[in-house]
Amino acid sequence: MFEPGQILIGLEIGTSKVCAAVGEVAEGGELNILGLGQARSRGVRKGEVFDAEKAGEDIRQALAEAEEMADVTIESIYLAVTGRHLECANFRGVHTIPTVDRAIDAEDVQLALRNAKYQSCPAGAEIIDSVRQDFLVDDHAVYENPVGVVGARIEARVHVILGHANRLATSRQAVEAAVPVRVEKTVFSGLASALAVLTTEQKQAGAIVVDLGGGTTEFAFFHQGLLRHSGILAVGGDHVSNDLAYGLRVPLSRAEELKLAHGSALVRKENSAAMSGPTAGAGLTDRPVSLGKLERIMSMRWEETLELLALRLRAADALRLATEGVFLCGGGARTPGIEELAQRIFQLPVHRGIVQSVSGPATVLENPEFATPIGLVRYGAMRAKQRPRPRLFSRLTSFAGLTSRRSS
Ligand SMILES: Nc1ncnc2c1ncn2[C@@H]1O[C@H](COP(=O)(O)OP(=O)(O)O)[C@@H](O)[C@H]1O
Ligand SMILES: [Mg+2]
Repeated sequence: MFEPGQILIGLEIGTSKVCAAVGEVAEGGELNILGLGQARSRGVRKGEVFDAEKAGEDIRQALAEAEEMADVTIESIYLAVTGRHLECANFRGVHTIPTVDRAIDAEDVQLALRNAKYQSCPAGAEIIDSVRQDFLVDDHAVYENPVGVVGARIEARVHVILGHANRLATSRQAVEAAVPVRVEKTVFSGLASALAVLTTEQKQAGAIVVDLGGGTTEFAFFHQGLLRHSGILAVGGDHVSNDLAYGLRVPLSRAEELKLAHGSALVRKENSAAMSGPTAGAGLTDRPVSLGKLERIMSMRWEETLELLALRLRAADALRLATEGVFLCGGGARTPGIEELAQRIFQLPVHRGIVQSVSGPATVLENPEFATPIGLVRYGAMRAKQRPRPRLFSRLTSFAGLTSRRSS
C-alpha cells in the first residue's frame, strides 16, 4: 500500500554505468530524490549482464553510495532491464461468451486478457509488464471497458513486454548475490525513463520518450494516458565511439574522449577544416584529428540509428499521434545537435527529457542519464498505490500513468 514517506529504490545496470536512486514519496505523490549512487559498468554488454562478478562489484558500489547519501538501509529495489532478448509487442486474446445474449462481466474481461497474455508468452519467456489497450466486442465496437455490453465474443488488445526468463534471472541474481537486497520487480528501462520525464498531460496527448544509452536505445510511446508501444534497438552511443575509433584510426578510449569534447550529431560546415587541439603529453595516438571527419562519422551513425527508430515508431503510428513530440534522455541526449537531427527525421518537436514532479539535487534532476533510475522510483510508487487491488490486470493497467483514464 502507498504510504507517504515511503522509500523506494531504483537500480539500473546499464552498459555504461550502474546507477541507483533512492526516492521518497511525498504526501501528494511527488518524489523527492534523497540519494544517488553510481559506478562505471564493467560487466554489461548491450544492456545484458555478461560478467556477474564484475557487475556485482559495480552494483555494490552504486548501492553503497546511494545508501550513504540518503542515509537509509536498502532492502529491496526495482531493477531496470533491457537488451535484445526483450520483445515489446501488441497481442490479442479472444474469449467467447458461452451464452450469446448475456452482458459481458469482469470475469469475461479477465479471461480475454489472460488469453492475450498466454498468446504472447512462448516457453522460456517471462512477461515483465503488460498494459491493456482496448476491447473489441463482436469484431466491431471498441470499448475501453466492455463490462455490461451484450455480445458473443470479446477480444482484448494488450501491449506486452517480454524477456527471456533466464536472462532476467541472471540480472536479478547478479544483484541478489552481490548485496543483501531483494529485487521487488524488473521493469523495462525504456518504460521507467518515460515515467520519469513525461507529465500526465503529455502521456494523455501523445508523446514518445527515447533513451539513448551506451549499448542500447529504448523507446516508449504513450497516447491517451496508456503505454501504446515500446521497444529496443541494440545500438547506442558506444557504436558512435566505435565508428570514430575505426574511422579516425584512434584507440577506443581516445575516440570516446573526442566524442565528448568535439562530438556533434550534425555536420557543421565551418568545422570541415578544423583539427582537434593537441593533448597534453601527446603521443602518436593523440595526434590531431579532423573535426569535419569526426562530425561526418558521428552524424552518419546517429542518422542511421534515428532512421531505424523512426521506422519502428512509424509502424506503431506513434509519429502521427505523438503531438507533444519526442523527449530524449540517456547519455546520448547530451550530443550537440541531436535534437535538431531527431526533429528532422521524426518531423516532430524534439526536446531534452527532464524529470517531472521530482525534487532533489539539481545535479541529479538535470542529468539525462538518471531518467531510468528515477523512473523506477516512480514506477514503484505507482505500483504500491495500486497494490490493494488484487485482480489479474489491475496492476498492469495502472502504472505508466495509465491511471489518468482508469483511476475512478
Ligand atoms: N556529452 C556527451 N556527448 C555525447 N555522448 C555522451 C555524452 N555523455 C555521455 N554520452 C554517451 O552516453 C552513453 C551512456 O549513456 P547512459 O544513459 O549512461 O547509458 P547506459 O544507461 O546504457 O549505461 C555513452 O555512449 C556515452 O558516450
Ligand atoms: Mg540506460
